[in-house]
Amino acid sequence: MKIAMVGSGYVGLVSGACFADFGHDVVCIDKDQSKIDRLHEGIMPIYEPGLAELVGSNVKAGRLTFTTSLAEGIEGADAIFIAVGTPSRRGDGHADLSFVYAVAKEIGENLANDAVVVTKSTVPVGTGDEVERILKDSGTSHKFSVVSNPEFLREGAAIGDFKRPDRIVIGAEDDFGREVMREVYRPLFLNESPILFTGRRTSELIKYAANAFLATKITFINEMADLCEKVGADVQDVSRGIGMDNRIGSKFLHAGPGYGGSCFPKDTLALLKTAEDYDSPTRIVEAVVKVNDTRKRAMGRKVLDALGGADAARGKKVALLGLTFKPNTDDMRDSPAIAVAQTLTDAGVKVEAYDPEGMELAKPLMPEVTMVEDPYAAIKDADVIAIVTEWDAFRALDLTRVKDLAKAPVLVDLRNIYRPEDVRAAGFEYSSIGRG
Ligand code: UDX
Repeated sequence: MKIAMVGSGYVGLVSGACFADFGHDVVCIDKDQSKIDRLHEGIMPIYEPGLAELVGSNVKAGRLTFTTSLAEGIEGADAIFIAVGTPSRRGDGHADLSFVYAVAKEIGENLANDAVVVTKSTVPVGTGDEVERILKDSGTSHKFSVVSNPEFLREGAAIGDFKRPDRIVIGAEDDFGREVMREVYRPLFLNESPILFTGRRTSELIKYAANAFLATKITFINEMADLCEKVGADVQDVSRGIGMDNRIGSKFLHAGPGYGGSCFPKDTLALLKTAEDYDSPTRIVEAVVKVNDTRKRAMGRKVLDALGGADAARGKKVALLGLTFKPNTDDMRDSPAIAVAQTLTDAGVKVEAYDPEGMELAKPLMPEVTMVEDPYAAIKDADVIAIVTEWDAFRALDLTRVKDLAKAPVLVDLRNIYRPEDVRAAGFEYSSIGRG
């Protein structure tokens, strides 16, 4: 199979490299010349464990190439994937589909053979219909089919998620689309990965429903955590206790500072907009979005409380450990750390922060925060140490050294990575999420 991947961002690059690793002949296309130049030199545009090695070995084997020319890249391709961004449109929260439609138009104008055009980008229900219309309007004489094939890749675990998926969802309206996609995913069929063939609109909705459900699960346990704090219960055990019920499942029940990242915030908003457009409100998701938004600043206030309240906090110092929306990524999009830092600096608190990968992208988002090169530099003379992202590096802090360096041994753990009894035994004042 020859595969063209239009858009070499996070999803496009990971998917392209994995398809090449399956043995397909893959061309990754991107308009950004400097990105393509760097990829030719083996430099990845994003931080994702294992990606550089996977790209390197497939380039070496001659199965993976890069180009800025869409016309060249799609020539001879059996499947052309659209994996460009669909950010939230400024102002109204709708997914911005201008990149997807521009690519569809360019594909139509340059199609040189029969091909299946696949939307991999997360797109609202009905986008496939519009892509089909754009391709038809281009007047191409070649046979084409438009298929929806959403991704379910977690940042930091994307390659594993691609190669050993919980399921593959393919929304196709004709046999041509279904047959080509069966070939594209043949290695996973052979692995017996579950695969769901469905209609295109259904497939588009599955992606949003999955992310909205996961966001709901997280938000639900976060509210239970707040209640635990009030009634003197332990949310870790509540999660275990309910998660052992197979109908509920144990994953995504980890209470924390609220979800962030490139998908959940944007996709829940876009789902609300679709629901509004079709006059079919999704009130649960509406509540989830609101609760999660307010939670992030509430986390900042939790740190202020540890400083003795907003009035006492002015002029004091907080060490923020972890800035990215989750570990093993440099992604800062909608990270709770942004709201936490803002709440603190608004209250006149001096904030020094450390993150293993995220500081470069964090700097412009939190200009009043000083970034330092290691966690202990941030901790020096701090009145409160706040863990915001659960990087492994923070699980094994040398607590004796922390206590010596800090002005006061006060730890606020927004990810519950420490056991209260251990930290208290080490002489710390400790607060965490939903533990009595
Ligand atoms: C998510 C989906 O998991 C993936 O299927 C989809 O395609 C893209 O969006 P990702 O954004 O990479 O992936 O992150 P994920 O690991 O799902 O975490 C999202 C957010 O939820 C993070 O901020 C994380 O800290 C938070 N989270 C997750 C919790 O607070 N508690 C949990 O139990 C799980």
